[in-house]
Amino acid sequence: MEIGFYDDSFIDINSKVIPIQERGHQFGDGVYEVIRVYNGKPFLMDDHLTRLKSSCDAILLEMPYTKEEIIEIVNEGLKRSNIPNAEVYMQVTRGAASRFHGFPDVSPLFSMTIKNARIVNEEMKRNGITVLTLEDERWANCYIKSLNLLPNVLAKQTAISKGHYEAILVKNNVITEGSSSNIFAIKDGVLHTTPATKAILHGVTRKAVINIAHALNIPVVEKNMSTDFLQSSDEAFITSTSVEILPIAVFDEQPLPKNRPMTQMLQKEFTKLIEQM
Ligand code: PDD
Repeated sequence: MEIGFYDDSFIDINSKVIPIQERGHQFGDGVYEVIRVYNGKPFLMDDHLTRLKSSCDAILLEMPYTKEEIIEIVNEGLKRSNIPNAEVYMQVTRGAASRFHGFPDVSPLFSMTIKNARIVNEEMKRNGITVLTLEDERWANCYIKSLNLLPNVLAKQTAISKGHYEAILVKNNVITEGSSSNIFAIKDGVLHTTPATKAILHGVTRKAVINIAHALNIPVVEKNMSTDFLQSSDEAFITSTSVEILPIAVFDEQPLPKNRPMTQMLQKEFTKLIEQM
């Protein structure tokens, strides 16, 4: 059963509970996380909760619970929902208060949903996706997992409306990341990805993939990439909590090679990591 959690209580997933003056709703004044659960076990939860804390710190928002308390809430939610393969979304907002741009003197609010995970089909994991580059119109602090996702939403929808799976964002002629994913390319046996600056979200999956590459002695380069570099790469893929590792078959109308030995190796090791936890 899919369930929700708001202001200290578990609630029906379809409850209409958000106060009209919620700052998450009125200002997008908050941050969020998403954690994937496989066979009842949250995957890389510590990394996600560390990032949630960093996002809160970056917007001067106090976490309403400690990491340990959030783990307890997640585990209790998983027990109640009884969904083995779930996605857990959690938001922390600056609370509900009369509208004024400055910080209100109220407590932050924590909410969460536990839902069935959207499973990426095997065909897509094998044959890849097509992507389209678009101008990155977001702000300067994309390392914060902020609730303000309007540019991401618009970019994704533009890509979808043109028949693509993901929008790859470009700022000052270099690729930053996908609208809801990080990006990697492989060239001459070297794994390339955008550096973890303020311009991108420091993906938990990105980090796991880099760690796997290190363990396999695959050289990793974290440097800005151009669209030309991506189009002439041997292999490329996107990563995220929900899609894991998804190969790019066509980049801006340019088909990439169908043979993807390194992507397949990384996908296999990633699956092992999930099975081993
Ligand atoms: N999005 N970059 C952006 C802009 C993202 O929104 C995401 C994830 C990522 C990948 O991060 P991670 O590997 O930690 O999931 C990169 C999630 C899936 C979402 O918003 O639903």
